[in-house]
Amino acid sequence: MTKTFKVAVIAGDGIGPEVITEGIKILNAVAELDGSFKVDYQYFDWGCQYYLEKQRMMAADGMEILKEFDAIYLGAVGFPGVPDHISLTELLLVIRKQFNQYINVRPIYLLNGAPCPLKEVTTDKVQMLFIRENTEGEYAGAGDWLYKGKENEVVLQTGVFSRKGTERVIRYAFETARKLGKSLTSISKGNALQYSMVFWDQVFEEIALEYPDVPTHSYLVDAAAMFMVMQPERFEVVVTSNLFGDILTDLGAALAGGLGLAAGANINPEREFPSMFEPIHGSAPDIAGKGIANPMAAIWSVSQMLEFLGYENWARKVLQAIEKLLVEKKCLTPDIGGTATTSEVGDKIREILFSEELIKF
Ligand code: NAD
Ligand code: IPM
Ligand code: MN
Repeated sequence: MTKTFKVAVIAGDGIGPEVITEGIKILNAVAELDGSFKVDYQYFDWGCQYYLEKQRMMAADGMEILKEFDAIYLGAVGFPGVPDHISLTELLLVIRKQFNQYINVRPIYLLNGAPCPLKEVTTDKVQMLFIRENTEGEYAGAGDWLYKGKENEVVLQTGVFSRKGTERVIRYAFETARKLGKSLTSISKGNALQYSMVFWDQVFEEIALEYPDVPTHSYLVDAAAMFMVMQPERFEVVVTSNLFGDILTDLGAALAGGLGLAAGANINPEREFPSMFEPIHGSAPDIAGKGIANPMAAIWSVSQMLEFLGYENWARKVLQAIEKLLVEKKCLTPDIGGTATTSEVGDKIREILFSEELIKF
């Protein structure tokens, strides 16, 4: 019997719609090739344009509507004209938090053919799987703005680390490392943040006792940033807080070919709510509307969606198709040294998927 997956599409702003179109092209290609499932899309025009017309980033009952979907596919949010702290906190961050998508999985894998700024690096040296805490830390939204505009103005942005929130992400990371047979590295900052990060380190040590088979490392975030560049092979599975994970995965993206190649999955592991799949880049206002955005990150997030929905083989095939294109170097967007358009790259990846040699598992 054919299964139907309901996917909510929030293409969003800037290059969001451009790259999402290509991701959908690939998801449709996979559904067609597989034959056992269909995808039913519903499109939501939420984002900055919507905000300018309606003074809100999403429909008032938006979260109720989204609850019913199997997955959310998101492009990018944010555009000049709407303050970023409004556009992001009222759309992307609301979904991550309210749907308890407390795991943000960001693969930093250097594929064959992808440009890497490191000298003489081989692909086996850049194979990191970041697991970023996705609902708490400095993103919890706790704080205050006192005496606004006065001489004694004070702002507070509180880092929130609950025991439940910290344990669950660290445990998830240990489970992932165990499943993959890899080491787990925790990145924190206990030498300066004497409450939140000392607590994080303590929880990491407690949970490590339950996983004696998983080798562990623990780095301070500043040293970790240095090691990611100098000795990226140190990192296999990595677990870190929301803010550190945000920053380090853009650094990681730079090591693995740039933002045009970096994907992220916002996962609610219990599946009580839909999970959300998105490229980690933003709306790139500097290139929006030119048709030259790299859709590979958005297509990689389709691969993550396929894996989440139980189609690991297809997830792998989509990555292989991206890699084939990178190796051939004939059809690439300008960010990675080519002259192709966004849709040409999508078409080519589709073509590779349909080609004989790739559909045999
Ligand atoms: P950005 O990721 O949009 O762009 C940074 C640089 O990378 C730009 O030069 C851009 O052209 C380039 N780039 C990004 N994606 C690319 C792609 N697919 N192909 C080719 N080049 C690409 O980050 P920014 O400029 O700091 O932010 C722009 C807006 O996006 C802001 O409003 C920001 O808040 C928002 N943002 C949203 C998300 C999200 O929705 N997940 C993530 C990051 C930033
Ligand atoms: C990301 C983005 C978001 C974040 C912003 C846009 C709120 O940078 O997904 O990496 O910081 O999480
Ligand atoms: Mn980011």
